[in-house]
Amino acid sequence: MTEQDLDRTPPSTSPRPPAGPAVGRRGLIGYVGSAVVGAGVGAATGAAVASATASDEVVQRVGETLSPYGRHQAGVTAPMQACSETVALDLLPAVARAADRDALARMLRVLTGDIEAFMLGRGAPGDPTPWLSSAGADVAVTLGLGHTFFTDAWGLPAPGGFEPVPPMEHDRLQERWSGGDLVLVVGGRDATTVGHVVRRLVADVAPFATLRWRQQGSWNGFGADGGRVTGRNLFGQVDGSANPAPGTDLFDRTVWINGGAWQHGTTLVVRRIRMDLPTWDGLTRAEQEQSVGRDLATGAPLTGGAELDDVDLQARRDGAYVVAAGSHVRRSHPDLNGGRRIFRKGANYEVLTEEGSEAGLVFASYQANLSGQFTPLQQAIDAEDLLNEWTTAIGSAEFAVLPGFEKGGWLGQSLLGDS
Ligand code: HEM
Repeated sequence: MTEQDLDRTPPSTSPRPPAGPAVGRRGLIGYVGSAVVGAGVGAATGAAVASATASDEVVQRVGETLSPYGRHQAGVTAPMQACSETVALDLLPAVARAADRDALARMLRVLTGDIEAFMLGRGAPGDPTPWLSSAGADVAVTLGLGHTFFTDAWGLPAPGGFEPVPPMEHDRLQERWSGGDLVLVVGGRDATTVGHVVRRLVADVAPFATLRWRQQGSWNGFGADGGRVTGRNLFGQVDGSANPAPGTDLFDRTVWINGGAWQHGTTLVVRRIRMDLPTWDGLTRAEQEQSVGRDLATGAPLTGGAELDDVDLQARRDGAYVVAAGSHVRRSHPDLNGGRRIFRKGANYEVLTEEGSEAGLVFASYQANLSGQFTPLQQAIDAEDLLNEWTTAIGSAEFAVLPGFEKGGWLGQSLLGDS
């Protein structure tokens, strides 16, 4: 933190609770009513709420500042966050039947107001416990829509190539971790804040949609010296090295939709991939490294170089490929997949079960064109990949991630016009 930052740090006391009479969030929003929430946090939401937020004009100031505004949703490119929850919701049956675009627009405005407030580090409008989402938590929330909105009933245009991922031979998908009409990806630096943000968002969207699944994950993106590092999955592998870097042309081409109503949006695939840690632990280090094609300790290619270097797929030793034919990085490498790339951003999970525990990766992948980029890669891995022996997808879902919003605007505005 710089001296300037310290100057801007508010007194150590927590934000004050809302002054005046408590306002029920449900009553405040009134999806069927005319209250407009969202455009500018707290705008038109009543005096009680305004006093809870505007008087505490606290802007995210610690760590990597994440602005909620911009052409793209900031959560997509936000650095790997320590805690994350990916939350899928289902439309209420009556909402699904009505397929009312105006109601959808109102819901998106409400969510925009919440997301704006959380990312700016203040309680959402009407939050009875605003202390739980104070500045400095580096909260980012990313919102996406499921396939249901692109059916005849809703009639919204889908992003090009936004098709369901077809079944894979190695999949063992469970309904409880699959599908969903809406997704919220909430990231932050601590689980208390992230959990609170999730609870508030789910409560605020309750007149419209109900929780379907909730997947928690964690990631350690910092090294021993406190600097940013790529981070590791639960196999101990450095994971994310070959990702296109945000801010580069390659990233933009890989991730952002270019043109049409979805301009500046993207698509998201979430797959819950169980990892068999006990059998993995039983392998030799050489076997573990062969199955991926990179050094376990450093993440560098087995063909030499440093972590961020590309693997040399042609290199041979004693007549055989150094990076094995079935290794994960060979099978998923753009050179062997028609140049296709994706941007991976998973999080590790471990949950206690009656048998002991289950561990894996909440795999997340962003790409401009889902069926043009992700699906063929997934099919190549499904057909052959040494890692398949220790990894099993048990959940799968796809979402179209809305373009970002500017101050005064709302998520989905380009899609729904001024409903
Ligand atoms: C639990 C499952 C998985 C594990 C443990 C895993 C692990 C890894 C590791 C350690 C790397 C090398 C370092 C890096 O570049 O990030 C890697 C690379 C990669 N993985 Fe995965 N991965 C998994 C699932 C997937 C899935 C489902 C896909 C896509 C369908 C995928 C696509 C890729 C791609 C495209 C690369 C980069 C290849 C390159 O350009 O060198 N991975 N993965």
